[in-house]
Amino acid sequence: MKTISLNDHDAIPALGLGTWKSAEGDVYKAVKAAIEIGYRHIDCAAIYGNEAEIGHALQDVMAAGIVTREELWITSKLWNNAHQKEQVRPALEKTLRDLRLDYLDLYLMHWPVALAAGVAFPASSDDFLSLHEAPLPETWEGLEACVDLGLTKNIGVSNFSIGKIEALLQTARIRPVMNQVELHPYLQQKNLVEYCHSQGIQVTGYSPLGSNDRPERLKKADDPVLADHPTILEIAEKYGISWAQVLLTWAINRDTIVIPKSVNPERLRQNFEAAAIDLDADDMARIGELDLHFRFINGATWVSEEKGYTLATLWDE
Ligand code: A2P
Repeated sequence: MKTISLNDHDAIPALGLGTWKSAEGDVYKAVKAAIEIGYRHIDCAAIYGNEAEIGHALQDVMAAGIVTREELWITSKLWNNAHQKEQVRPALEKTLRDLRLDYLDLYLMHWPVALAAGVAFPASSDDFLSLHEAPLPETWEGLEACVDLGLTKNIGVSNFSIGKIEALLQTARIRPVMNQVELHPYLQQKNLVEYCHSQGIQVTGYSPLGSNDRPERLKKADDPVLADHPTILEIAEKYGISWAQVLLTWAINRDTIVIPKSVNPERLRQNFEAAAIDLDADDMARIGELDLHFRFINGATWVSEEKGYTLATLWDE
């Protein structure tokens, strides 16, 4: 498996297992099967509500001698309702208890959006904290303190624009090593990827297959479908691979990290094998032309004009 260096001491496997939407009862089997197949990178988050079950699987594969803690790369994310500096450490400690781990390899700030304590998803503007009430640099200080305590080896961000990273770098004592954002041929974010790479920040792409199992509230009838694009299908046929493998190998070939979600053993294997496939430059260029700047996860959940959050301020575009 190709790895990508984050700094002089850590390298992350370029393909990991996504666990958003992996339901209770499925995710234990999926994580165990993935690690048996050879996955060494698992992408988690407190808000996915399944870290305890993932922790059970991690404990069992380690107890069975299939893998050691040092061979695994475990990422998790701080939820938006724990952005006050003093809330960060307890949130990470809860994740560590659930995952049955002593430390994470990477802890990300999930969104540049703050919610009131105890609110999982906002029902009204009252559920938000403005970025004046919960400034991102202070949340970052909370993450930095977790590195100092050895609770996580690395820290990073998710859903951050170029502008928000630039602002963070002004005050950060420990630089972010990662920005995890939505990436696929319909949302290529070339400027953001280039900017992050120029700053030594690596980029992980979520929803690489288009997250067809996303909640209904995030779906519209005319959303484009990656699996249907004739160029993707032609390239799949040329290499004798699936459309999903085309998308995953494209992501890795452009030096991003990719975290496809699956709970199906056959698709877990297929996705893992995509990391060993290379597309030629012409095919990379053909996929490069498919950009629609289309977000499957458009951020509408995080709009509260009253608290200063709009789609324009979220994405800075
Ligand atoms: P399943 O978990 O049943 O395999 P994303 O990673 O973009 O969020 O996409 C996840 C969705 O894609 C899930 O519905 C998942 O279903 C499906 N999926 C994962 N791998 C493949 C694959 N190789 N081919 C087709 N669908 C896949």
